[in-house]
Amino acid sequence: MTKSYNTFPLYKGQLLIGSALEYARNPLSFFEEKRKQFGDNYFITFPGRKVLVVGSPDLMHHIYSNSKTYTKDKIFDHLTLVIGNGLITNEREQWKRQRKLAQPAFYKSNLMKLYQLMVDVSQDVLNKLLAKSQSSEAIEISGEMQIATSRIVMKCLFSKDFDDGLREVHDSITFGLNYVSKIFVDPTAIPLSYINGKRRQFKKSKASLDTMVLNLIKERKNSSEDKADLLQMLIDARFEDTGEPLSETALMDELLNIFFAGHETSAVSLSWTLYLLAQHPEILEKLRAEIKHVTNGELPTFEQSKQLIYCNQVVKESLRLYPPIWVVPRYTLEDDEWNGMFIPKGTFIFNLTYMLHHKPEIYPDPAVFDPERFHPDVIKERPHNHYYPFGGAPRKCIGDHFAALELVLMLSGLVTKFDFELVEGQKIQPNPITTLKPMSGIHMKLTPRR
Ligand code: HEM
Repeated sequence: MTKSYNTFPLYKGQLLIGSALEYARNPLSFFEEKRKQFGDNYFITFPGRKVLVVGSPDLMHHIYSNSKTYTKDKIFDHLTLVIGNGLITNEREQWKRQRKLAQPAFYKSNLMKLYQLMVDVSQDVLNKLLAKSQSSEAIEISGEMQIATSRIVMKCLFSKDFDDGLREVHDSITFGLNYVSKIFVDPTAIPLSYINGKRRQFKKSKASLDTMVLNLIKERKNSSEDKADLLQMLIDARFEDTGEPLSETALMDELLNIFFAGHETSAVSLSWTLYLLAQHPEILEKLRAEIKHVTNGELPTFEQSKQLIYCNQVVKESLRLYPPIWVVPRYTLEDDEWNGMFIPKGTFIFNLTYMLHHKPEIYPDPAVFDPERFHPDVIKERPHNHYYPFGGAPRKCIGDHFAALELVLMLSGLVTKFDFELVEGQKIQPNPITTLKPMSGIHMKLTPRR
């Protein structure tokens, strides 16, 4: 007897275009509306493809943990053009070997070494903001945070800053990422880019990016200086099976993958956290009191950053409300079954972290900013699949502890040094593309605190 399966509800949308227009207008309210209609998991259609939208914790866990069936195939082809084949973009055996090789660089013992580099940059970022805040002009905070986190990750990668020649590297990557995100969301941009010269410009910029990164690698290999940064850790790392190091091209790709994954995400998170704190003075005061108590108003040391319990709660709650990676896409390589439901081979999946984190059955009053949801006693009781800001194993973010350190460090400095006031009349809303960036930025008046 053949087994019979059920299938998830399907939202067909409009003739020919499916859900494309409704989705493009406002993805978050589109998904919220559909959840009310269909529940956590359902199919939507785009021209030429069906997508399974997943908002239930159990199915999301199933997808994350079955990474042989639910892969990144077909998802990141465009991104590979800029960042090559590294941890983000690789699959199967190649990914597994690279993850094993890179993992120790993110162990606590190594993060302790990187921490001083983070502190140096954070100090400089705060000083520059202090100078800017002297003028009566408002500051666009998400742009500032983007620069800050780019500088932090670059410093941890290369022990260098923008002024040591890394500004060009940063600008080339940003140019490449803008180009590929354009062709990703708008397929007509590809033929157009051959005509208007953008493709040639991109290729030239990518070639110069590769040369700059390869030169940084060569320069380090020829140097006798002892550096404790990610570049050195990856140069010294060896594959478990062969004992070989990464080739220079593989090393270059890995550095670009880490830079790509490790700057915008943290910047987005910091921006939303400041936005939330600016509207919740009682939470801000409690946070400041803790920092004063633990660090006496200085930037936290590595050990102190763990003692900032409430600060970590604030960061976690902000990542719940505004998960920078709001959707994690996958592609099914084989037919699968989950709870009697059939998931065919070739299905595109959207693991909707944002919807999971706003599920009222898990987080009552989900729109309310309440760091008590992440009190250590509360976390103990919560199943791990109710919170996925860093994705799920085995492809969980390798930089999760790096990010937590950086966010607590920067946040401590910012709230200790400044008062924040949102500029009135601006419309602040998330713009869900690859990350959940604020659509038109967040404008704030920063006033130095005595
Ligand atoms: C708040 C900050 C961050 C957030 C929200 C975040 C989120 C994520 C998520 C959701 C994934 C999984 C993607 C998927 O499964 O398709 C991921 C993967 C990854 N992240 Fe992060 N990330 C953050 C910061 C960082 C930092 C600071 C670094 C490095 C310094 C980093 C490096 C990576 C890498 C290399 C991967 C790929 C891991 C693999 O597949 O083995 N991330 N991140």
